[in-house]
Amino acid sequence: PASEPTDLVVFGGTGDLSMRKLLPSLHLLDRDGHLDAGTRVVAVSRDGLTDADLRDKAAAAVRSHHEVDDNDGLNSFLDRLSHVTVDVGGDPRGWEDLARALVPGRDRVFHLAVPPMLSGSICRGLRDAGLVAPGARVVLEKPLGRDLVSAREVNAEVAEIFPESATYRIDHYLGKETVQNLLVLRFANVFLEPLWNSRWIDHVQITAAETVGVGGRRGYYDSAGAMRDMVQNHLLQLLCLTAMEPPSSYDRDAVRNEKLKVLQALAPLTGDRVDTDTVRGQYGPGTVGGEEVVGYLDEAGGPSTGDTETFVALRAEVANWRWAGVPFYLRTGKRMAHTRSEIVVRFREVPHTIFPGADGRPGAGELVIRLQPDEGIHLTMSAKEPGAGAPRLRPVPLRLSFADTFPNRSPEAYERLLADVLAGDPTLFVRRDEVEEAWRWVDPVIEAWTDRNTPPEIYPSGSAGPAGAHRLLGRNGRTWYEQEQPR
Ligand code: BG6
Repeated sequence: PASEPTDLVVFGGTGDLSMRKLLPSLHLLDRDGHLDAGTRVVAVSRDGLTDADLRDKAAAAVRSHHEVDDNDGLNSFLDRLSHVTVDVGGDPRGWEDLARALVPGRDRVFHLAVPPMLSGSICRGLRDAGLVAPGARVVLEKPLGRDLVSAREVNAEVAEIFPESATYRIDHYLGKETVQNLLVLRFANVFLEPLWNSRWIDHVQITAAETVGVGGRRGYYDSAGAMRDMVQNHLLQLLCLTAMEPPSSYDRDAVRNEKLKVLQALAPLTGDRVDTDTVRGQYGPGTVGGEEVVGYLDEAGGPSTGDTETFVALRAEVANWRWAGVPFYLRTGKRMAHTRSEIVVRFREVPHTIFPGADGRPGAGELVIRLQPDEGIHLTMSAKEPGAGAPRLRPVPLRLSFADTFPNRSPEAYERLLADVLAGDPTLFVRRDEVEEAWRWVDPVIEAWTDRNTPPEIYPSGSAGPAGAHRLLGRNGRTWYEQEQPR
């Protein structure tokens, strides 16, 4: 159903995120009938664009994101767009122009696609211009701060103007279909939950690997690194959904309360554990997909401190009854051999084998939840190879491919999340206490790396990451799951 007529105001409305994700996703929502006919998108920037300039830019952005066969449809989407120039903290006339562009009585959403240090001044600007009408919502993008202290500051500044119930913090991984499917898989079936604990699970691996480098974002990346860019948010959110207790309902706070408890239960990674249980890496030159690429230090743009990590692997522990002793290995990297995000749950071996002489290892099955590229769920189990004589055991897969099972196009993360913002449903957004708790766990690791001057281990672009990441699992006789196509 189409949402209520809304004025969606995007700060940073002509920027990279807006052009790459927000406007194309809004076009898809419109095309599929999910935007109310009265909904308008006001792009705010300092660029001084005319509406026509903005529409041209948006049309190009939409077309480079997906194929458009319905030009009239695209034009009617473009008609919803307008541009207002506001210099936040500068000339106050911009705010007056913005006020004139908004229609009283409509729902209002302010999407801040800008660096986090601007959030406070934008929120105050909105308030001072009298634009925060009852029911207005604010959307915040990551990174939400760069440590606990700065995250608290941003949250506090926003909270002066918008209540928590109106604050939507995006972690776009939560908008991915397979991520939501993880909850359905766990809590709408009976067979997994009884096994979902330290008794039957040996360990969990969560990987988000990308073939891309930092591209034009070297400046941002130098001040962030993979720990802040990927682990603090996306990987920890996946860990939460994997490890959380069953919520009593699919309700915004019921789900988020359970995720918060997982973050609170993470054993601190401090002291010697930082040396033994974390690995930082940085890509050097190499070959990705047949193309030679430069190393991180030779990427264009921005001065470099030289030791930014583009890869992190670590061993986390959820210290509670369900998970005591089960390592959660997290891994993320740029310029890896493949683009692949997945959660791998490796089960223990059977407690006793009745096939002692069998050729093949019985029992240690694995469940792979692949987020991308080929979204699906794969369960590996032992089966007997056909034939006479002593049984020969082989791991065989049960495969569920979302693309084959659900042939309709599934919405992209941003489409889903923008639709939820417009509908006023914050379940898939990150609550203030979750963000802060995640920083509380991540901060000491980054501090220890800084204090010890831990240099990143260089790995060739197009590889499986630094050797340290393999040693991290190897010392317990484990290996990373590396199937390009899940078995
Ligand atoms: C973003 C990070 O949040 O997620 C990027 O800032 C990263 O560095 C991206 O490339 C990965 O998202 P996805 O959806 O392509 O896995």
